[in-house]
Amino acid sequence: MCGIVGYSGRNRAAPILIDSLKRLEYRGYDSAGIAVFNSNSIKVYKDKGKIANLENGLPEIAGTVGIGHTRWATHGKPNKINAHPHTSGSIAVVHNGIIENYQELRERLTQSGYVFSSETDTEALAHLINSYYRDDLAEAVVSALKDIRGSFAIAVLCGSELVAARKDSPLVIGIGSGENFIASDIPAILKYTRQIIFLDDLEVASVTPDSVSVFDFERHQIEKKITSIDWDLEAAEKSGYDHFMLKEIHEQPRALHETFAGRISELEGSITLDGLNLTPVQIRDISRISLIACGTSFNAGLLGKYLFEHLSGIHVDVEIASEFRYAHPFPGSLVIAISQSGETADTLAALREVKGSGCRTLAITNVMGSTLTREVDGVIYTRSGPEIGVAATKTFISQLGVLYLLALHFGKSRGMLSSDHIKRMLISLKHIPAQITRINSNKELIKKLAQTLSASNDVFFIGRTFNYPIALEGALKLKEISYIHAEGYAAGELKHGPLALITKNTPVIAIATKGATYDKMVNNIKEVKAREAPVIAIADEKDMEIERYVDAVVRIPATEEILSPILSTVAIQLLSYYTAKERDCPIDQPRNLAKSVTVE
Ligand code: F6R
Repeated sequence: MCGIVGYSGRNRAAPILIDSLKRLEYRGYDSAGIAVFNSNSIKVYKDKGKIANLENGLPEIAGTVGIGHTRWATHGKPNKINAHPHTSGSIAVVHNGIIENYQELRERLTQSGYVFSSETDTEALAHLINSYYRDDLAEAVVSALKDIRGSFAIAVLCGSELVAARKDSPLVIGIGSGENFIASDIPAILKYTRQIIFLDDLEVASVTPDSVSVFDFERHQIEKKITSIDWDLEAAEKSGYDHFMLKEIHEQPRALHETFAGRISELEGSITLDGLNLTPVQIRDISRISLIACGTSFNAGLLGKYLFEHLSGIHVDVEIASEFRYAHPFPGSLVIAISQSGETADTLAALREVKGSGCRTLAITNVMGSTLTREVDGVIYTRSGPEIGVAATKTFISQLGVLYLLALHFGKSRGMLSSDHIKRMLISLKHIPAQITRINSNKELIKKLAQTLSASNDVFFIGRTFNYPIALEGALKLKEISYIHAEGYAAGELKHGPLALITKNTPVIAIATKGATYDKMVNNIKEVKAREAPVIAIADEKDMEIERYVDAVVRIPATEEILSPILSTVAIQLLSYYTAKERDCPIDQPRNLAKSVTVE
């Protein structure tokens, strides 16, 4: 998500930290900062905006140990105060990840006299480490981390001591000669060293110019392997994946984990959504919801309709943003704008139409401080981290994650769902990231099927109910990155026209997970098979029946019927990706498309 660097050596730290941070610029960030131990104290320099701003304002700093950070806001606005490093006494901290219990910690530390100056969760960590510090930095870091719930990759500076640790967020140590490095991403330090130690979860490293010692939370030493990295810079930026899109597909378990972090208590069956700004009474009074969005975000909205109607009993209209501006919002509606960038001109224009209509507005977005967030009554962040591939993947998965949480929360507030029902759903939701990992690690068949698909001129995706929006998303993904004409259809709608196009040359991808519409999907599959279309089914791993009707089955783990769209999404993303790769397309930057569409 954000970028971390650290240096302990014999050269001036500041230029090395700045240079390393610049190597992470490609990922996007909103502020940057460094802390260097110099003349017996830690000096912190940080600024909003580009690293160049920070660099231009830096004095000559002689210190040879320091930490640095590029921030991509998740807790607190993107501004100078919230930029890292955060300090407490003689301690400076940079942090990636989310501390779920930071409110609780903030209250506890405030009562003990610590004064907070930022809105970040990281500052709580700095104070917490300080509260445990008694001349042994590693000990203080371990004690603090034991109090924390959530994910973290951190680098902590105290005097000339440098300590790093991680859980659920990447961190590596770079081994040099008379100097050692810390980085969240290898490209940051590739210029200085190719000898890398990959820290694992709950490992802590103490780094000096001449040594790196790694230990667990009980202070047991761990022997770590040093890996020699032979990637060039471009491959390193993609963590060795061929494209950012594939990297981002693989980041989806982590993205979803962050989407849920601190928001779900499956034991209590409760959901906490900071930023929603709706009281239980206001939620009960919502008469209707309008979901407005474009492209992939619109497809997320379509699934949102099924979720809200099914789980919370609220009628939902889903509108393409560029058309909504000509519609008349229903008074008393809640209007939810979905946009990963928060800058899409069509979505902003539609939202502005709502102003003055008496409707409350809510945004679901990935970018803190984006224009959208400044124009709504409430915001829920998807927390997917920066997405570089033009085709949306992990931001879509996280949008779905937020929509599930919202629909369940509304369902509970409106008395539509029993506590047991919510607990069951939350437990299943929490399993989804690991289930996505299983799909990602089992893609040989998908690669083979993509070879055949890549020779097609037209492909159809079909699905019903919860998986109908995923059929649309499959068609959108395939066409934008492979340039193959693709159509997504509600399976029942084929016979009302498009069936005329089905021949042995039009592969059909049928999302046929188990559920109330399974038998109907099988009938639709038979319809297209009767026209000789090759059919690939996306089906549950335990469904042995489906093989009888189709040519190939991409299997996904079984889950609650209503949650299956998240898993079928991963299958259609991988199919689209490998098909485009077979055709040698510029996957990360498809022709005519931009990551953020700021014209109407
Ligand atoms: C497709 C894609 C686009 C966007 C659309 C809306 O992969 O990325 O269809 O979904 O341009 O963008 P946001 O979500 O930023 O409003």
